[in-house]
Amino acid sequence: MAQRTLTTESGAPVADNQNSASAGAGGPLLLQDQHLLEKLARFNRERIPERVVHARGSGAYGHFEVTDDVTEFTRAAFLDTIGKRTEVFLRFSTVADSLGGADAVRDPRGFALKFYTEQGNYDLVGNNTPVFFIKDPLKFPDFIHSQKRDPFTGRQEPDNVWDFWAHAPEATHQVTWLMGDRGIPASYRHMNGYGSHTYQWTNEAGEAFFVKYHFKTNQGVRSLSSEQAAEQVGKDANSHQTDLLQAIERGVHPSWTLYVQVMPAAEAADYRFNPFDLTKVWPHADYPLQRVGRLVLDRNPDNVFAEVEQSAFSPNNFVPGIGPSPDKMLQGRLFAYADAHRYRLGVNHTQLPVNAPRATTAENHGRDGLMATNPQGRYAKNYEPNSHQGPVQSDQPLSAPYALVGHTGNHAPVAHTKDDDFHQAGELYRLMSEDEQQRLVANIAGGLSQVTRDDVVEKNLAHFRAADPEYGRRVEEAVRELRES
Ligand code: HEM
Repeated sequence: MAQRTLTTESGAPVADNQNSASAGAGGPLLLQDQHLLEKLARFNRERIPERVVHARGSGAYGHFEVTDDVTEFTRAAFLDTIGKRTEVFLRFSTVADSLGGADAVRDPRGFALKFYTEQGNYDLVGNNTPVFFIKDPLKFPDFIHSQKRDPFTGRQEPDNVWDFWAHAPEATHQVTWLMGDRGIPASYRHMNGYGSHTYQWTNEAGEAFFVKYHFKTNQGVRSLSSEQAAEQVGKDANSHQTDLLQAIERGVHPSWTLYVQVMPAAEAADYRFNPFDLTKVWPHADYPLQRVGRLVLDRNPDNVFAEVEQSAFSPNNFVPGIGPSPDKMLQGRLFAYADAHRYRLGVNHTQLPVNAPRATTAENHGRDGLMATNPQGRYAKNYEPNSHQGPVQSDQPLSAPYALVGHTGNHAPVAHTKDDDFHQAGELYRLMSEDEQQRLVANIAGGLSQVTRDDVVEKNLAHFRAADPEYGRRVEEAVRELRES
C-alpha cells in the first residue's frame, strides 16, 4: 500500500513533523508554523469534563436477542418477536473515583445499556446492585460529595463516607450489599446487571405492569476479597478494562440472560413494600423471574474517547411500551442525565455516532447549536405544524397514565405495611453464609474503625443492630478490636 502523506487538519501536506520552524537553526520559533500551532492547540483541548460520577468505565457493542414471548406485558417493538436481534452498546463503570482511578475497588458498578431499536434508542442505565443507598434525588449530590474526594484533603475520607450513612438509615441495605462478597466484582464480565428501579411496561391493550430488570451473567458471578483487590490494583489498575478488551479480542464474548419481575399495576398500591422505593427488592417468591432474552457483547470500540467517553445514556430515553414509574430517584434521574450530557458533550451529543439512533432516524424540528452535523436536508422545515409533509406527532403516549391523588408538597415516601429501613438489610445478612458474614463484618469494621467521631460510629452501629442484633454486635466488636489495636 502506498505510504500516505501526513496532513494538517485542513488537509495540507506537513513537511516536517520532527523539527519546528525557527528563525535560524538556533533561534526562536516562527508564528507561521501552522502545524506546530495546530498540534499544540489541539493537544490543550483533548479533555472534556469527566462524568461527575461513573467517570471511569469501559464499553463494548453487541446485540440483544429475544428468547421468550413478553408481548403480554409490553408492546416495545424490539421485544415483539422471539429471535429478534437489536444492536446494543454497553458501558460499565465504577462510581466514586475519577477517570484515572483503579478498577478493582469496593464500589457499585454501572451497567448502562443502549438498545438501538427501530423505534428509537432505549437506554437502561442500571448498576450491578438491585438497590441503592437513598430514595430521594435531593440527597444525591450530598451522598456523592461524601463518597468522593474531600475538598480539603483531596482524598476519600472514611469520616465523610460513614457520616453520610450515619444520617441515612435507608442506606443500610445497600451498605450491607456493598460490604459483602459482591462488593468487588472480579471483572465486568463476572457480575450481574440490574435496572434497579421499577419501570413501567404497557402492552398493546394499554394494560400497565411494573417491572424490574435482572441481567444474570452467564460467566458466573466472581468477586475479589479486599486483599485480592488491593493486590490486583497494584498489578494492573485497569484490570476490568484489560479483561473486557482482551476477552472480546480473543473471541470470548460475554453474555447475560435478561429476566424481569412483573407486577400487574393494580397490585402496586397494596404490596407490602413500596414498589417504587429504590432501597428495596421484590422477593422472588412474590414476583418470580421471567426470562426475556440474551445480551451478548462481541465488538470492542475502535476509539475509547469517541465511543466510550462520549457515550451518553439517559434514563429518560424510552420507546413505545416502556416508561418510568413514580420512583422519586428515577424521576430525578430523568432530568439529570441529559442535562449532564449538554454540559459535558453539548446540545448535539445525540448526533455523535455512538449516541445517534441506528435502526431509525431522528426527525424533529430541533436545529443548530454547537457542532450541529445533522441539518436534516434542504426541504426539512424547522417548525411545526407546516405544510410540507414534515414529521408529525404520533398521538400515542409511550406508556400508560398513572392515576394520582393528593396535594403538592415535600412528602416523605409512602410507607407500605412492611416498609422500614432495616428489614431487608437483616434478611440479606441472614442469607449470607457464616464465612461471608465474617468478611462482611471485617470489611465494614475496616472502614468504620477509621472514623474519628464516636457519635458517627455509634449511629452506624445502631443501623446494623436494627437490621439484626447479632450483625450489630459483631460489627461493634470488630470495630472495637481494630480501634484498640
Ligand atoms: C437521583 C439519583 C441520581 C442522579 C442525580 C444521578 C446522576 C448521574 C449523572 C449526572 C451521571 C453522569 C452522566 C454523564 O455525564 O454522562 C450519572 C452516571 C451514571 N449513573 Fe447516575 N445518578 C443517580 C442515581 C443512579 C442510580 C440509582 C443508578 C443505577 C441504578 C445510576 C447509574 C448510573 C450509571 C450506570 C452512570 C454511568 C452512565 C455511563 O456509563 O455513561 N445512577 N449519574
